[in-house]
Formats: sequence, C-alpha cells, structure tokens
Amino acid sequence: MMITSENTPLIHRSDYQPLAYLITDIVLDVHLDPDNTEVSARLHFQRQSPEPVEELHLDGEGLELLEIRQDGQTLPESAYRVDDSGLTLFQPAVEFILETRVRIHPAANSALSGLYHAGGQFLTQCEAEGFRRITYYLDRPDCLAKFTVTLHGPQQTCPVLLANGNCVAQGEEAGGLHWARWEDPYPKPAYLFAMVGGDLAAMRDTFTTQSGRQVALEIYVAERDLNACGQAMESLKRAMRWDEEVYGREYDLDRYMIVATDSFNMGAMENKGLNIFNSKYVLASPETATDTDYLGIESVIAHEYFHNWTGNRVTLRDWFQLSLKEGLTVFRDQEFSADMNSRGVQRIGDVRRLRAAQFPEDAGPLAHPVRPDAYSEINNFYTATVYEKGAELVRMLHTLLGKEGFRRGTDLYFERHDGHAVTIEDFVEALEDANHADLSRFRTWYAQAGTPLVKAQGIYDPKAQTYTLTLSQSTPPTPGQSRKEPVPIPVRMALINTQGAKTALDGCGDHEKVLVLEEATQTWTFTEQSDPVIPSLLRGFSAPVRLENALDDQSRSFLACVDDDPFNRWESTQELALQALLAGVQNPGTVQQLPDALERALAATLQDGTMDPAFRAELLSLPSEDYIGEQMPVIAVDAIHQARDALLSHIGHHFHDAWLHLYHDLVGAYARDGLSIGRRRLRNVALSYLVFSDRHREDDMTLHARQQYVQADNMTDRLAAFQLLVQHPLHDAEDILMDFYQKWQDYPLVIDKWFAIQAMAPRADTLRQVQHLLVHPAFDWKVPNRVRAVLGAFTVNPTVFHAADGSGYAFFAEQIRRLDDINPQTAARLATPLSRWQRYDDVRQKAMIQALQLLAAKPHLSRDLAEVIQRAYP
Ligand code: PHE
Ligand code: ZN
Repeated sequence: MMITSENTPLIHRSDYQPLAYLITDIVLDVHLDPDNTEVSARLHFQRQSPEPVEELHLDGEGLELLEIRQDGQTLPESAYRVDDSGLTLFQPAVEFILETRVRIHPAANSALSGLYHAGGQFLTQCEAEGFRRITYYLDRPDCLAKFTVTLHGPQQTCPVLLANGNCVAQGEEAGGLHWARWEDPYPKPAYLFAMVGGDLAAMRDTFTTQSGRQVALEIYVAERDLNACGQAMESLKRAMRWDEEVYGREYDLDRYMIVATDSFNMGAMENKGLNIFNSKYVLASPETATDTDYLGIESVIAHEYFHNWTGNRVTLRDWFQLSLKEGLTVFRDQEFSADMNSRGVQRIGDVRRLRAAQFPEDAGPLAHPVRPDAYSEINNFYTATVYEKGAELVRMLHTLLGKEGFRRGTDLYFERHDGHAVTIEDFVEALEDANHADLSRFRTWYAQAGTPLVKAQGIYDPKAQTYTLTLSQSTPPTPGQSRKEPVPIPVRMALINTQGAKTALDGCGDHEKVLVLEEATQTWTFTEQSDPVIPSLLRGFSAPVRLENALDDQSRSFLACVDDDPFNRWESTQELALQALLAGVQNPGTVQQLPDALERALAATLQDGTMDPAFRAELLSLPSEDYIGEQMPVIAVDAIHQARDALLSHIGHHFHDAWLHLYHDLVGAYARDGLSIGRRRLRNVALSYLVFSDRHREDDMTLHARQQYVQADNMTDRLAAFQLLVQHPLHDAEDILMDFYQKWQDYPLVIDKWFAIQAMAPRADTLRQVQHLLVHPAFDWKVPNRVRAVLGAFTVNPTVFHAADGSGYAFFAEQIRRLDDINPQTAARLATPLSRWQRYDDVRQKAMIQALQLLAAKPHLSRDLAEVIQRAYP
C-alpha cells in the first residue's frame, strides 16, 4: 500500500535498553486553563549507566517550551535540542535537576490523550504515552519516580482538584483561584499519573482493610448523578474484599478515588489511587441502565481495582509486556465476576467475547502474539489478543498448577517484584519456582500467534472395555510466523455413559481429568469402561483453541441434555444450532424444519423449570451471525442472515406456546439479585422468539413488545422491547424512536443506546438512517462513546456494513477519514473490521480494499491509523 515505512517505524522488543538515567523525583506545578495551561516540571536525574552518555532524550509531544533550567541556571541553546519527538540534552551530568516550563492546550485536545478539557472538566489520560503531551519526560514504564503535583485552578469552575496519592496542602490565591498539592508516596511510571479539575460531587464511603486500616472511597460525578453510583461503590468494596481473600492483597493508600467522564477513549484507567472511568462503567440506575450495564460496571470497577497490584505495585518493564498486567487482571476480574454471579454463565459470556473478537483477530492480518515482537503505535496493541487471550493463558496456568499452586506462584511474584518494572518472563518464572514446575514449553503460548485447532477422535472397544482418545493439534500460519510449534493444551475432560453419568477414569476414582496435549498428536486409553461412553472435552473451555470433535448429532443432543459441565452443555446446543444454520446457508430453504437433535435439546431446556434462568437463556440463544461466518471459508453475509432469521422464526413458531407461557410466567417485580436478572433475561429471550414467530402466524406478536416498552419500569425490559421494535425488518417504529429520544435526551448513556440500536438494525434503510444520525444535533465527533454508538455499531451490522454493493464500506471509510483528524486512537480501532477482507467474496474484497486505499491516501494520516491499514493490506 502507499504508506511508507517512515510513517510507521517499528519498535522491536529485542531492542530494549535499560534506562541510562533514573528520575527519582518529579515535582509538577500546573496552572489549569482550557486554552493555555502551563506546566512547570522539576526532575531529579541520576545516571545509572556506568558510562557517560552523549545525549539524553526526553519524550515530548505538542509542547511549547517556555523556559529551561539546569541546576537553577538557564540552559544555553547549545546544550539541548527540541524537535517533534521531544527534548535532547547534550552531555548530561551524572546527576542534575532539570526544570522546564511548557504551554499546552487542553480544550483543543480532541485525541483525549494527555491533559484534555471536556464536558467542563480537566482530565488526563497517560497510558500508554500520554504523559509526554503534558511535559518533557522519560515516558516509559520502567522509569519509576515519586510524584508531587500542585494544581492551580479557578475556584468557580474547578472547585475540585485531584491527583494521585494524598492531598498534603491546599489554599486560595488571587484572582479567584485556588490550589491543591498532592503527593504519591509510591514511585510510579508516568502512565499511571492522573490529575482532575472540575465541578464534581462525591459519593463517599469507607472500607476497612484486613489489617484494620480505614480507606476513604470517593466516586466523583456530576451532582445530578450522585444517586447513580451505588453499583460502582458496592462493586468496589466487594472487589477490595475479594482481592484480600483470594490473593491476600490489601489496598495501600488511605484514599481511593474514581472520576467519571463522558469523554474517554477506553473503558477506564487504573491511575494510582485516582481511576478515571468512562461514565458507562460508573453510572447506573434501574431506569437508565440494563442488567448487562450493571454487570459491566461490576467487572470494570474490579478490573481497575485489581490493577493496583497487577500493574501498579508490580508494573511493566516495557509495552511489549502489556499482557503481564492486562491478561492477568482480566483473568482476575473474570474470576471475581464468576464468584459474585453464576460461574457457568460468566464463563459462557467470556468465551463468547473471546470468539467474537479474539479468534477473528488471530486468524487475520492483525494477528500478533500475546507478547508482541514489534509495534509502530502501542495504542494499537490494546487488543483482544493481549487482553482476552492473555487472560486465557493465565487461566491455563491456573489449571496446570491448580488453585493452591497458582496462589503460591502469585505470592512469590508479588514478594519478588513489588515496586519493580518486570516482564512476562518474570511472572512465569515465579510460578515455576514456587511450584518446582517446568513451564518452558508453555512460554510458546506467549510467543506464537494463531488459534490452535485440536482434533479429537475416540474409539470404544466393547471387548477390551477401553475408550481410546486421540488428540492432535495444529496452528495455522500467521503474518511473520509461517511455522508453528505445538503448545501445551490442557484439555479438561470426562467420559459420560449412556445413563448420563461420568464414569471413573482408570479406576482411580477420578471422574474428571486434565489431559495435557503437548505434542502434535497424543493418545490416551481409559480402561474399565464397561459401557459405551461419549467424551465431554475441553470442559469449561479449558484452552483457547478450536475443537473439532467428531460426534454425531445424537451424541451432541445427548450431551446437551445431560452434561454437568455448564459450558459444554451450552456448547453442545450451540454446535447443533450451528450445524442447522450452516446447512441453511448451503441450501436456503432447508431450515424449513427444526432438526430433531436440536429440537430435543431446546425442548429439554424449555421444560426444565429448575434450571438457573440466566443459564437457560444462554442455552436458548443462537450463535451470532459473526460466529457462523467465522466457521465458513467465505463468509456468506446475506445467506447467514437469512438462515439465522429463518431458524429463529422456526424455533419461535415451533415452541410458540412454551414461549408465551414463559413470557407470562416470568413477570416479576424489579429486583437486582441474580435470580431476578436471570428471569428478565430469559423472559426477553422468550419475547424475541415470539416476535420472530410472527411470520408464521396471523397474530402480531410485536404487540407484546409494544406493551412491554410502555409498561416497563426498568431499562433492561424497556430496551429489549425497543430493540425488537426498531430492528424489526417489516414494522415501523417511528413513534417509539421519538418517544424514547424525548424521554432520555438528558442521559447520554441512554442516548448512546438509541443511536446504536438504529445503526445495528438489519433493515434496508439503515445506511440512510445512519447518515441522518451523523448530522443529528446530539451527535458529537469529539465524544468517543457517541462515535462508537454509531460507527462501531454500524460495523457489527453484517448485512448493512457488508452490503454487496460496497456502499457500507465506502460510507464508513469516509467517516473514519474524518475521525482520524479528531481522535486517531478511536479511528484506528474502529477501522480494524476492514482488515478482515480476505474472508469475503471477490466483490466485497475489492470494495473493502478500496476503502482501505481511500484511508491510506488521506493527508495527515495518523500513525495509529497508518499502522492498522498497513498491516491490514501490506
Ligand atoms: N489500562 C486500561 C485498562 O485496561 C485501559 C486503557 C488503556 C485505558 C489505554 C486508557 C488508555 O484498564
Ligand atoms: Zn486493564
């Protein structure tokens, strides 16, 4: 493609060099002003390398240098150089104090990296490399310094001034200004720095740690949102307790602060003692937030809290180690959520996400190892691979070492590395040393990209009464890695007899085992199997692989009814549905009838009123269009949509009375406990099948949805009905759309849903509708949540984004061009679906490549977007 490598110079993991200089202390003085903020910095440098260095480079971006002094003396121009990438000092002394004063422009900072002014507040975002947009610095995670910061701001608009650590002094000054000084006692990398100024109210609570210390908890939001912080606060306290109980980790500061903003590039940020959150993961009330939103808050609050140990106390040596904190912390938050809610349902959701985002990434041109070898823009590596696959690797280590062994390992990891910037290798070594284990082969998982394919073949020998299982593995090539090694794959398994019971494996009384498939092919024989058995493999999804298990429909249907592993029970049903759907894609019209095996599996779930309703809802939901597409050599966009629609309406029709019964049976007063949440979920699944059953019947099932929309006393039910009505391909819902907007126009998070649901509608007029949305008065290019609600949602609307005439791609590319000038990080992330072009037919391929070329030709292409395009179409 036309992008030159000058735009995208690569940084290699193998080039890591230790710091030549330490910064022991940094003292900042910041005068907040939306247009012209001045930042004075005083840095204490100490040489660490034995040899003197010629030049010392400090990172800096978009800074206007006003003053520079060394050891109190103004530095002559011959002693330094300033360019686009920062400030270079010539022949630096062994030890010195550098003082700089720079000017920056927070209101013009629409990239939301560094210090920015949005929604009337000053906020910072320094991960990964935002601090260099605030002052000249050694902006790399292995530079740990003690921070002191004094904020000055107008009392009127910024009554609240926050930074990391403890507030040690404050006061008033002339001109309606005031100031506050904050000190963080723990040395930290600059990416964990944060400061906030604004007119915020705080919800306050306290937490007493296991050693009896009181920690003040504060959640800062706009005054009117104070009553919407309950879920966030309760989740925080639960997370603090959980980390003490499960990992023995206690909080270390006297104060834990969370600030919510509508303008944020990601979900949230774990800045030391001062988390900054996308308001989506803080604010919730029953009227405005769905059950899914509530769960999202619980998990993100916990995630950021857990970073205090996995990320902050023990931090990263360099950005190639990103998964050291993210994979481990995602694993921890997943386990926390599993303990707080239903473990089985949690695992199903985690795997759904992995398959929806990470598997496609790992199979396309953006594939990279969990520990990448090179990058151009680190922002592009906050990926599903680093996060979700990284978490799966930690989960496998947990499985291989066992719960106690894993805990011994993390104890040693914290003991050895507290206060240091370390590597993934250090983590694996701690696990090894604490368990006298050899994980040398496991390391390949971190180095090798691609999703392994595991094939299973089993034979029952009635004469010998043995069951022989052969497993083999292979990993497809990925960019830059054509040859792949086998990896150790923990396969949790059981054998299930004709009565539906797990048999003893090898007479040792174990009914479940973890086989470790390390070689390309391995065989296991289980003796004393007096009955024919069916294998239940990869229970709990014990490894991030694709499993090809040669089972007939009858066996799958059997497992779907009796398997006691929730994940595998769900998987068996999904597999049956998938087979029906793929058959429907091959031969449109074959989904005339419900295949027997699938019918049996669904019927069993529908009839079993004793089961957890949330789990039932999962069992009764069909695979997504994207997941179906992933299973095909060429994604047949429209045929998939039609086959899935047809199957939905067959299931709706076939079980109509059961759905109706469920729907009426599951009404209940609104409550927030797990059972009530599950009942709402299942009831809304029933409602969707009722609506889909329409086309077989005279009666109009959307009436139920209309009624639910009007009568609902909570957002979960209201939104479920709203979505069904707005996305119905035949009915018109103009009145409902208007009503919803009018009711919720003052609630940005709700209006995001209003935008997204329209952009995801599988309707013929959706593209036109989306064009209107972009000029709607409530649309704002500078607010990432809003942009994602329209453009992000659009890319997960298969039939519209991938419209055969290329209209979706062309429209999309134009919008990304525009966004790139405003917020490159978000533009690059949103553009990644275009990288999947190889998976489509020739006509779509051409159109997708054209869209990529349109982007590549953009003037002032950001490094973020350039790298994505370059890798998508090299
Ligand atoms: N470190 C944050 C998290 O995972 C994510 C993040 C990355 C936020 C970069 C902002 C910028 O919790
Ligand atoms: Zn994280």
